[in-house]
Amino acid sequence: MHEKTIAFITSSTRSPRLNPFITDYVRSVIASSLPNGISLHSVDITNYNLPIYNEPRIPATLPKEDPTCHYQHETTRKWSYEIRKYDAYIFVTPQYNWSLPASLKNAIDYLFHEWTGKPVGIVSYGGHGGSKAAAHLQDVTRGLRMKCVSTTPSLTITLKTLEDCMRNGRLDDGLKQLWLEGGCVEAIHKMFAEILENLNSSPKPLMEKTILLPLTIGFYCRTSRILYTI
Ligand SMILES: Cc1cc2nc3c(=O)[nH]c(=O)nc-3n(C[C@H](O)[C@H](O)[C@H](O)COP(=O)(O)O)c2cc1C
Repeated sequence: MHEKTIAFITSSTRSPRLNPFITDYVRSVIASSLPNGISLHSVDITNYNLPIYNEPRIPATLPKEDPTCHYQHETTRKWSYEIRKYDAYIFVTPQYNWSLPASLKNAIDYLFHEWTGKPVGIVSYGGHGGSKAAAHLQDVTRGLRMKCVSTTPSLTITLKTLEDCMRNGRLDDGLKQLWLEGGCVEAIHKMFAEILENLNSSPKPLMEKTILLPLTIGFYCRTSRILYTI
């Protein structure tokens, strides 16, 4: 069996920002009890310099076996090539104005088949844990026919958290202790277990079903007089 790869997606793109610290934290929690056959990777959206969506075609309409070469822009091809490599994803996202940051939505919108059918977990952070961002992102991933797991750990931060990270180069131990006591570490492990469960059951990507179904209906409509009347 080939090794399964899971990518942590760092979503905010401003500078300075908290996201890399939070991603590293979530990754370290998961790495502490990583089973064999799984490898963890980090993908930072800011490294891909994606402009606001500017592809002429709709990603869902590209050939699903190899959409990468059909994108017009080199930046999109690079992004597609990166994302298609992984078997599952963990989005680590702040909450911006009760939703996910535009940088993350934009990066997600550029692709379709690269995401479809794959398990995904969401970890949010914000003044109240960023649960509204997580809920919106769950909807987006469902629209992409991803397998979004139900546990969405949310980490509460304060206005001082970024300042502290910039000063000390790391997250405050007291804050991590609060997350531990608040059940966040447990929630991260639970989310990861759900991702693994989805990876192992690995049914056919939903995308195949959504494409096959209209094709099948179309075929019957052309060949059956009865169905012509529907
Ligand atoms: C544009 C913007 C909107 C924000 N909206 C929210 C919000 O709705 N709820 C919240 O709890 N925090 C909000 N915040 C605070 C962020 O959670 C906090 O600044 C966090 O550090 C952002 O992550 P980042 O540093 O990785 O960009 C907002 C921050 C920004 C920059």
